[in-house]
Amino acid sequence: MSFPERRMRRLRRTPALRRLVAETRLSPDDLVAPLFVREGIVDPQPIVSLPGVVQHTTHSLAKEARRLSYLGVPAAILFGVPATKNANGSQAWQPKGIVQVALRELRDEVGDSMVLIADLCLDEYTDHGHCGVLNADGSVDNDATIELYARTAVAQADAGADIVAPSGMMDGQVGAIREALDGAGFTDIAILAYAAKYASALYGPFRDAVDVTIAGAGDRKGYQQNPANVREALSEVDLDVDEGADIVMVKPALAYLDVIAAVRRAVDLPVAAYHVSGEYAMVKAAAERGWIDGDAVALEHLTAIKRAGADVILTYFAGEIAESLNG
Ligand code: PBG
Repeated sequence: MSFPERRMRRLRRTPALRRLVAETRLSPDDLVAPLFVREGIVDPQPIVSLPGVVQHTTHSLAKEARRLSYLGVPAAILFGVPATKNANGSQAWQPKGIVQVALRELRDEVGDSMVLIADLCLDEYTDHGHCGVLNADGSVDNDATIELYARTAVAQADAGADIVAPSGMMDGQVGAIREALDGAGFTDIAILAYAAKYASALYGPFRDAVDVTIAGAGDRKGYQQNPANVREALSEVDLDVDEGADIVMVKPALAYLDVIAAVRRAVDLPVAAYHVSGEYAMVKAAAERGWIDGDAVALEHLTAIKRAGADVILTYFAGEIAESLNG
């Protein structure tokens, strides 16, 4: 017997061999593009901490959706930036609220060729920047908040969302939303639950994108999960599945690959992962300095998220990666 006993390198010799035995294949089909739409602007506004991402006008938003659809990206998730904010975030559920207006226009533009997901939260709409309404002591009132989520879900469904995506981490939010949607006749509208969402420091650029400054301690540790915990994530996922979630999500992605893998093993539903703003910004910033090859790192990161078990990846790289995958 010759040494070495087993030659692993035979199947790595040529690009075609490597392609043949790849265990994970990233495709535009896996991707969801996050898009921001801002009320009351005439031109798209760049977001400094998210190079290449903008706050759209309803017009530029429709154009971008058409481009993504052409590139084979099957879905977009929409975030609204209202012209005015208030204590209870009421612009979130107004029929003329920015996301509702944008959803109607997008639906006209792309028909059923693109899945339209509406992020469902209040933080973009409240003047204090929290994901719900506040108690006198500044904490978020869970049960009053989920009533407002239910209202918002119906408004988003009515405006044409295929999927609503509650991201506020309130207890019982998925059940309350399912009941409200069914009660309003929207039994076909699905729920993508931000099930295991961590109180991460990686959301910074997103908060620039939606003009949010969080009042009080300046964080969401009272409702989002502690990064130290993985069993707790499985409890969150169980609850959301019981309450009627159609897709469960882990967020952020790269620092939580173990959580993605555990959730994948625990459920049969599609699992999504959100490669968040800070993850995108770090790649862009290092690439800008010439310290890393940004395109290669982006592909490596997204492939790893899929390898860990995600079926669906939300990423600001969606358009760029789809372009490069299409060759
Ligand atoms: C809450 C929401 C946030 C993100 C998506 N939905 C911010 C937060 O929880 O503070 C972050 C996404 C990102 O960083 O890319 N509506």
